[in-house]
Amino acid sequence: TREILFALLLGYLFGSIPFGLLLTRLAGKGDVREIGSGNIGATNVLRTGSKPLAALTLVLDCLKATTAILLSQLLFGQLTGMIAAAGAMIGHLYPLWLKFRGGKGVATFLGVLIALLWPASLVYAGIWILLLLTIRISSVAGMAAAVSAPISAYLLHSSLFLMLLGFAVLVLWKHRENILRLRKGTEPRIGTKTSSAA
Ligand code: G3P
Repeated sequence: TREILFALLLGYLFGSIPFGLLLTRLAGKGDVREIGSGNIGATNVLRTGSKPLAALTLVLDCLKATTAILLSQLLFGQLTGMIAAAGAMIGHLYPLWLKFRGGKGVATFLGVLIALLWPASLVYAGIWILLLLTIRISSVAGMAAAVSAPISAYLLHSSLFLMLLGFAVLVLWKHRENILRLRKGTEPRIGTKTSSAA
């Protein structure tokens, strides 16, 4: 129905706002896609040397999904939250404005969970932060957090299980270059200046 289409579009529009790219540009740091991994996410924004910009990218990439979902539920009904979530994830990973070359979805996925399944968002954030602090490889932390989402949904008997499983698969797919680097042993740790270009 019309509500579903509106929710999908609303989610996509919010999700496809590339905050990492916009913030680094506004700050006069050039094009974030030309440094580090070439990604537009918070991790790569950090490689521009600005912690505040990276933190802001993380928060905004996260909250754009939460906002889109809550707005959709408000405007088009509670059940459209899932649709807006799918739109936001697809928008972030495949934004029309960037020739469909978007981010890797770790922050945006958290924003989805905050709106739709908050207990899972706590587990997700916990795993993410724990691995960031210990292993210090952003991709590993992000992928592990993403995989935790469908597992949490399963354990919580949530009807979102299949959708979240799909999101986790997409996040892993988007990390395929990271996975190759991890296997080669060339994936950089957070805080190291050098990183292989994607
Ligand atoms: O969320 C993205 C992160 O998991 C990896 O980013 O720039 O190291 O490929 P990057």
